[in-house]
Amino acid sequence: MCGIVGYIGPRPVTPILLDGLKKLEYRGYDSSGIALIENNRIEVYKRQGKLEVLREELNGREFYATAGIGHTRWATHGKPSDINAHPHTDCQGRFAVIHNGIIENYLPLKEWLISMGHGFRSETDTEVLPHLIEEFYEGDLVQTVLRVTRKIEGSYAMVVLALDEPGRLVAARQDSPLVVGLGDGENFLASDIPALLCHTRNTYILEDGEIAEITPDGVTVIDQYGRPVAKNVFHVKWEAAQAEKGGFDHFMLKEIYEQPRALKDTLSGRIDPDGARVVLSEIKMTPEQIRNIKKIFISACGTAYHAGLVGKYIIEKMARVPVEIDIASEFRYRDPLVDKDSLVIVVSQSGETADTLAALRESKRRGARVLAVTNVVDSSIAREADYILYTWAGPEIAVASTKAYTTQLMCMYLIGLYLADIRGTLPEADRREIIKELRKLSDKVKVILNNCSIIDQFVRDYAGSENAFFIGRGLDHTVAMEGALKLKEISYIHAEAYAAGELKHGTLALIIKGVPVIALATQQDLFEKMVSNIKEVKAREATVIALAMDGVREIEKVADHVLHIPRTHPLLAPVLTVVPLQLLAYRMAVARSCDVDQPRNLAKSVTVE
Ligand code: G6P
Repeated sequence: MCGIVGYIGPRPVTPILLDGLKKLEYRGYDSSGIALIENNRIEVYKRQGKLEVLREELNGREFYATAGIGHTRWATHGKPSDINAHPHTDCQGRFAVIHNGIIENYLPLKEWLISMGHGFRSETDTEVLPHLIEEFYEGDLVQTVLRVTRKIEGSYAMVVLALDEPGRLVAARQDSPLVVGLGDGENFLASDIPALLCHTRNTYILEDGEIAEITPDGVTVIDQYGRPVAKNVFHVKWEAAQAEKGGFDHFMLKEIYEQPRALKDTLSGRIDPDGARVVLSEIKMTPEQIRNIKKIFISACGTAYHAGLVGKYIIEKMARVPVEIDIASEFRYRDPLVDKDSLVIVVSQSGETADTLAALRESKRRGARVLAVTNVVDSSIAREADYILYTWAGPEIAVASTKAYTTQLMCMYLIGLYLADIRGTLPEADRREIIKELRKLSDKVKVILNNCSIIDQFVRDYAGSENAFFIGRGLDHTVAMEGALKLKEISYIHAEAYAAGELKHGTLALIIKGVPVIALATQQDLFEKMVSNIKEVKAREATVIALAMDGVREIEKVADHVLHIPRTHPLLAPVLTVVPLQLLAYRMAVARSCDVDQPRNLAKSVTVE
């Protein structure tokens, strides 16, 4: 997730680009760059680090250009560095491109372009874009970009600056946001509205497949077939702080709603075209080494630990190898039986959590190979692990983790399927079926996000509660733990998760009239057992909100409220069940006037023990 800006008009472009990038730094901040046409050539300035580093580099230089593009990066393909920063250019420096998203088929395109004589400088997927433009350019930038969009797969918001056509910028969008800002004798482009607000409130929101040509005097938009599109002006009413959150009231809510995109990106490029197997080129172990893994250890903290709990379940089920899971702060001190035949998986959104990093180091000291699942390219954990599987969630700003969790789950499925394939432990038909369902998860999350009104009613009735219980069995229990953590950390309601079968061994004593119980019942083979547990708490007059898959009606007879989630493979249910629980926690916290994005006493990244 990166930030992009563009400007064309009568004013000097550099301050406009830098101010716009400043407003977009929350979208990514590991490097930044600008491109403009000066002295009849495209000049590119780009630097690793925060925007201030670039600003200092530009300080004192005189620029006359009145058109240009700028980018603030959150690394995906290629670590943060001056070379990997955007804009990227073609061989002759005639085109400069900024891009947000992932070009899934960049590797074959790169090979083809190299065979055509193009030279690449960076490790990024983006660099194929300027070279493709150079390859296809015949004097019309709009037509060239249209042709390029037919060659590329994946998600993109891109803006192109061409030396031969200095009077226009050309932009294209697919699955990544891009907004045109309409000025008077000047026009703007940005990946988000905050970058535009100090210039204009009149915008065109570009849709997937659209290509926009921007000149100082006008904007024309065509669709993927080259037909003109009549755009409606969207007048922005948001205040600046709200615009930064994409119109949402809090970053947490924005991040909950970003999950369909984040899931899609995390899956992108990791399934073979035939849909039969997972391809994880990141795990550079030989098949022999994978078959020889005797034991897997997972270690993580907080929400990442909860993703690891799902991972244990999935990997054991699919790859038939024993998996142990520890909270990282426990693992490092318990003298674990890790050795050279072990694979240790550490999970960390930030890649900087002190205990998780220590668990990684301890594992390496004992001779194990370490695979990191992390969201931050080039973080400490990414640098020290043997193999890295990135979650492409984009920056997560709210302290309570949401999109990082669901993308970590996605990685657990990918690891499970990958190991199972090599170890020969899952029939191909089952693998195909799970992969097919994995691909549908993003859309199913969207369905849930649009259908959660039942939660509002529950929140109205129970915002005053001081306790809540989450129960489930099997995978549902692991999600119950994440649901309870979300609720307690942001709403300060005391929330506990229990394996439903354990209720009788103590917790039932706490279930009294009116206590809210959230019961997860998505696992078909455990369903009848869960119904009994729900009856158990109902008999003590608890109020039960149950989560079950679509079409499961029986549960309506026992629970007070039922929230149905779209049907999916039972192993994949956690990705869907957690979404209403995230929303429940969020709405409770808002109803109780809590500081949602920065809960008391907590930090986003715990870099001390
Ligand atoms: C903190 C955050 C949690 C996060 C945990 C682990 O407690 O508030 O949201 O799950 O750290 O962080 P990591 O970056 O390692 O995933």
